[in-house]
Amino acid sequence: MQRIMNQIQNKNIILGLTGSIAVYKSAELTRLLLDQGIQVQVVMTDAACRFITPATMQALSGKPVFTELWQDNHATNQMDHINLGRTTNAILIAPASADFIAKLAHGLADDLLSTVCLARDCPLIVAPAMNRKMWENPAMQRNLKQLETDGITILGPASGIQACGEEGMGRMLEPGELADAVFSFFWPKLLSGIKILITAGPTYEQIDAVRGITNRSSGKMGYAVAKAALELGAVVTMISGPTTLLCPHGIALKNVTSAAEMFSAVQELVADADIFIGVAAVADYRVAQPVEHKIKKSASTLTLELIPNPDILGYVAGLPSPPFCVGFAAESQNLREYAETKRKAKNIQLIAANLVQEAIGADDNEMVLLDAVGETILPRADKLTQARALLQRIIQLYRQGTQT
Ligand code: CTP
Repeated sequence: MQRIMNQIQNKNIILGLTGSIAVYKSAELTRLLLDQGIQVQVVMTDAACRFITPATMQALSGKPVFTELWQDNHATNQMDHINLGRTTNAILIAPASADFIAKLAHGLADDLLSTVCLARDCPLIVAPAMNRKMWENPAMQRNLKQLETDGITILGPASGIQACGEEGMGRMLEPGELADAVFSFFWPKLLSGIKILITAGPTYEQIDAVRGITNRSSGKMGYAVAKAALELGAVVTMISGPTTLLCPHGIALKNVTSAAEMFSAVQELVADADIFIGVAAVADYRVAQPVEHKIKKSASTLTLELIPNPDILGYVAGLPSPPFCVGFAAESQNLREYAETKRKAKNIQLIAANLVQEAIGADDNEMVLLDAVGETILPRADKLTQARALLQRIIQLYRQGTQT
């Protein structure tokens, strides 16, 4: 995995800026890409320069910014438009204005950035940003389809409040989402086309209108597993209990609250899954008779009757043709012994075990992976690193067709 990380960290991209107010986000995006070890060469159109100065982008990227097709004399052969697109691993246009998308769709080349795009010898990624009416315009949608037909990757846009005060589709994705998407773009697609269903987060079991039973799971591990699977090219669906986390762009998300809702969602979606990863901290019990209104305080003791929830992972692993099943075990003691017993009892191929006192809510943890072949220790690291390592092990076992 370190080898893959090193390869990505040697990548160069051209970050093309066009005329949109969203260009202010590109300053942050530049910093995030550099943080990931990706080298950034900024190219700006005239319109982009009206929103943000090349000096800002030069200071952030640490390289001179290219803006002009004719006047700049960066290359002695005056062939910046050819050279730039040949020495880069990808071009990301963020923000891509409606006008620039139209140029790409029609192969126009009347400024440096559009010429670099036309003369490129590398993948092109486009992050649209525009007013919602411009986005919905049939001409825009026609141009977008043309870009897709031409094999150009489109990231976003998202829906929300726009700079013009209107609300709707057309917001550029956030810098963090774009930086992650670029990083994923370079990741080898070892799970291309494989469908992965993930459960994540805690569940919430209602007691009355304002109270419930839940647990301290933050959902961070499940979301990290989903992100790592997406990087590898998997088709990822995540069923998540209540969390405060942002779902990475590109993942089909189904939000649920209770274990019963999570179970129904899994039953509905599992037939399509090649791999099922149960990361959710599912409540083992729910209240037998949840009350619609708030229970009023009284002097007497309050007793809640709890009844067991279905074991979702156990159900999936027990299907006539189950997907490859992965579970998590959060234990407070006897880690290996309890986790391996759980793996065998649930009849699953792989279990990722960690000590609950170290993992819950934390940003990093230590894990041990147990399968029929043996164990793999994952030293303390952040949850995304752990998730990537877990997926590497899943790939090995999945390819070997490892049994439980
Ligand atoms: N799990 C599940 N449905 C449940 C309970 C757990 O799908 N009702 C899944 C979790 O997502 C996790 C694995 O089963 O992948 C282990 O869950 P855990 O709660 O640690 O194990 P339990 O079987 O509930 O055993 P115990 O609580 O006794 O440790």
